[in-house]
Amino acid sequence: MTVLNFRKTDFVPQDSSHKKVVIAVDGPAASGKGTLAKKLAERLGYAYLDTGALYRAVAMATLEIGGDPSKLQDVEPALEIIKRNLTPELLANPSLRTPEVSEGASKVAAIPEVRQALLDYQREFAANPPGFVGGAVLDGRDIGTVVCPEASIKFFVTAAPEERARRRFEELKATKPELTYEKVLADLKTRDMRDSTRATAPTAVAEDAYTLDTTHLNPAQTLEEAIGVIRASFLAETNDNARTGKTAKNNGPQP
Ligand code: CDP
Repeated sequence: MTVLNFRKTDFVPQDSSHKKVVIAVDGPAASGKGTLAKKLAERLGYAYLDTGALYRAVAMATLEIGGDPSKLQDVEPALEIIKRNLTPELLANPSLRTPEVSEGASKVAAIPEVRQALLDYQREFAANPPGFVGGAVLDGRDIGTVVCPEASIKFFVTAAPEERARRRFEELKATKPELTYEKVLADLKTRDMRDSTRATAPTAVAEDAYTLDTTHLNPAQTLEEAIGVIRASFLAETNDNARTGKTAKNNGPQP
């Protein structure tokens, strides 16, 4: 017997104005934002964009042509190549995840011209997500503050640096046996510092973001907490609109 006749579409937030729902997931390195964003997109049937992979791809191409990722003149040719070849396969390529590319990504990401060049792609993805789906989940550092300041829901995912380093070390140790936990922690702190102190679009908590500390949460618990926030937020909006007689901007999730 079916007790809960719950369909996925009962929950997926719909927007009656046909504007796509955008969920912004920002946070520092290895905070769990990518895992959360991916799971949210799966659960809601939305498209997913890992914006860090864009910077990683530019860094990898710069390194491959023997350039310095902190110098605009070295990065420019790589940027041109990447802009013409932004495919899901490239963005999911495991070679983007090495410590060298992480370091390079954080350097190219501090160059304002690079950020500007990648902005249109990210905004277009959010406005017209591939696959004719109802929305998009983007994760990064500046989604809620710069790329999509009008996002429907914003999360800032964080965790203690030691826990983040532990997770990244676990991820990398099989392919990089020479790596130590101490080195991962030091690299992560350097990158966090560079990312949060750069002049253009530093890592920042949007004023209207919901902060999720995942230090003591596993991925499933983090997802459930985020789903709870989304449900509450869309319900509050629906109730507000009902009270004021306005047409719902988002017909919220049905509990
Ligand atoms: O997975 P992890 O958090 O380590 O890194 P990532 O999200 O793939 O981002 C790699 C680098 O790209 C970061 O260190 C940032 O410097 C940069 N980035 C950014 O500046 N803005 C974004 N929206 C996403 C990433």
